[in-house]
Amino acid sequence: MTIKHLLSINDLNGSEISSIITRAISSKPMPYNNLLENETVGIWFEKPSLRTRLSFEIGVKQLGGTTIYLDKDNIGVGSREPIRDVANVISRYIYAFIARTFAHSTLTEFAKYSTIPIINALSDEEHPCQTLADLVTIQEKFGTLKNITIAYIGDGNNVARSLACGAYQIGMPFISSSPEEYKLTIDNEKINQSIIHEINPKKAMSAADVIYTDAWTSMGQEAESEIRKKAFQKYQISVEDLNSAKDNAILMHPLPAHHGEEISQDLLYHKKSVVFDQAENRLHAQRAAMEYLFK
Ligand code: CP
Ligand code: NVA
Repeated sequence: MTIKHLLSINDLNGSEISSIITRAISSKPMPYNNLLENETVGIWFEKPSLRTRLSFEIGVKQLGGTTIYLDKDNIGVGSREPIRDVANVISRYIYAFIARTFAHSTLTEFAKYSTIPIINALSDEEHPCQTLADLVTIQEKFGTLKNITIAYIGDGNNVARSLACGAYQIGMPFISSSPEEYKLTIDNEKINQSIIHEINPKKAMSAADVIYTDAWTSMGQEAESEIRKKAFQKYQISVEDLNSAKDNAILMHPLPAHHGEEISQDLLYHKKSVVFDQAENRLHAQRAAMEYLFK
C-alpha cells in the first residue's frame, strides 16, 4: 500500500480536499470511527502550539488511538541523531508521525526515510491542516465554497501559502494584500499566477467574503519583529474595516492573534469573527484528514 503523507496542501487535489471537508462536517457528532484502535501516533514539535497539538491529541483519541509526545530536546533530531536514523526507528514503533518544524526540508526528509505517514503540523513553508479547517469553516458559514472570495491581508507566510494553494485546488478566488517585500510567492507557476495581488488592503477587503489575516511575525522570525511592525502598519484590520466589509463577510485568523498588530484590540470578538469556530474545526478537519490518509 502506498503511504499517504500530508506535507503540503498540494498533496491533496480538489476532490480529495472536498471529501475531507464533507467528512469533517458530517462526522462532527459522535461516535467516531475506531480506525486507530491499538495504534500509537507520535507527535514531535520544534515550535510551540496550543491548537494543533491539542486537536491532534484529541483527534487521535477520538479515533481510538493513543498519542505519544516526543520532546524535541530529548530526541535531538539532527543533533543527537540524523533524521534518517530517527525516521527508521520511529517507523518500527508508531503508526504515524505528526511534526511541526522550522525547515520544511525536515518534513520531506522524514517522509523520504519513513515507512509511516508524516503529517505537517506547520513548517516555515506551509500549514496544510490549518487550511483544511479554514475551508471547513468557510463551507459551514456560506453553505458553499463556490465563488467565495478570500482576501488575505498581511504577511505572505506559511498559512497564506497553504490557503492560497487550497483555494486554487478548490477554484476559489484568492486576493493577497501585502507590502511588496512580504508578498506571497508559490513554488508553482500556475498557482502563483492565480493569486490576485492588491497592495491596498482596504480595496482587497471590500471585495472579500472572507477577510483573513495572520501574525506579522511568525515563529522563528522574532528578531525581525520591530521591522515587521513598521512594514505592516497599514495592514492592520480594524473595526471600521469589518463594519464596512460586505454584510455577510467573515473574519478569519488561525490564532494565536497579536492584538494591536495584525488586528485591532478585541477584533476577535466582533460579530463578523468566526475564529473560534475555525479553531474548533481544526479537530474535525484533522480527524477527517487522518481517516483519509490512514485508510
Ligand atoms: N493555528 C495554530 O496552528 O495554532 P497553534 O500554533 O497554537 O497550534
Ligand atoms: N504564521 C504563524 C502561524 C501560527 C499558527 C507562524 O508560523 O508562527
